[in-house]
Amino acid sequence: MIQPVIDNHLDPTWIERALQADVSEGLLMSPKELPPKWFYDDRGSELFEQITHLPDYYPTRREREILEREVDVIAERSGADTVVELGSGTSEKTRIVLDALAATGRLERYVPFDNSEATLMHAADALAKAYEGLSVHGVVGDFEYHLNHIPVGGCRMYLMLGGTIGNFLPADRKKFLAALANTMVAGDTLLMGFDLLKDRRRLIAAYDDPEGITAAFNRNVLAVINHRLDADFVLEQFEHEAHFDTGDECIEMWLCSTRDQQVTIGKLGMEVGFGAGERMRTEVSAKFRPERIGPELFAVGLVTEQLWTDAQGDFALSLARRVER
Ligand code: AVJ
Repeated sequence: MIQPVIDNHLDPTWIERALQADVSEGLLMSPKELPPKWFYDDRGSELFEQITHLPDYYPTRREREILEREVDVIAERSGADTVVELGSGTSEKTRIVLDALAATGRLERYVPFDNSEATLMHAADALAKAYEGLSVHGVVGDFEYHLNHIPVGGCRMYLMLGGTIGNFLPADRKKFLAALANTMVAGDTLLMGFDLLKDRRRLIAAYDDPEGITAAFNRNVLAVINHRLDADFVLEQFEHEAHFDTGDECIEMWLCSTRDQQVTIGKLGMEVGFGAGERMRTEVSAKFRPERIGPELFAVGLVTEQLWTDAQGDFALSLARRVER
């Protein structure tokens, strides 16, 4: 086994400063708002993993169905010897892609990029063990700041699976895609998963399970702030809500304060009031129309070669190639 190499750009001081900036800004907005990337400490990553097994949370299963069906075509078309995965998490679905590339005899390197160090180290180790001869070069970083630290070289296929792209607000999504395309060279490809627009009851069911796992995941952002910024959020005093915004075509998760309360954020020297029934937005998850995906990617220099959906049309995977600009 080749020992994985891990670059960590998120030391505890960096994390604390970035979280402070997001929290102080977000809690002064009206309505209050927190970015979804802060869900994913070790506990949050574990809760998300549980979400992917929920009967009503279809995206993971549907995406896996498409991957299993099309992976040989994807591996062949990509021509890749290197897989760069953004938001790699546990790298479970990655194995489908690595198996197909290994079968072509070209697979050399895997570059997982994630903001959770423990999750990434665990996954990097497991894959280095499972794929003899594979170089694993992990990057612990934040999409907003560290994309330029993705190692260069080889013919790279970028993966961004699970519908993670949906977590950006439309304007931020455009900026992110442009920055991402900028790290790619002509010939590199991007395999990206998109959750598709569908019946709103099914969408809401996917984000509001009866077991309360999504609710625990949602509240976990408060635990992260308590822990990192010495705050005193009482998690039980915030209720999980999932809504579908018909205008913006996205799911939104909110935390609703069950009473009038004051929260102290020690490291910010900040006192914040929440009124009874006041809601704070913690996540948006955009739901796409398949015909808009190609044009969005084209706007940043990525030409879609193929777009696949699962048999039910719930989820899409697109393979796009970076062209010279
Ligand atoms: C990480 C973007 C795939 O938006 O569906 C799951 C996160 N949030 N349940 C999504 C999530 C609530 C998820 N992604």
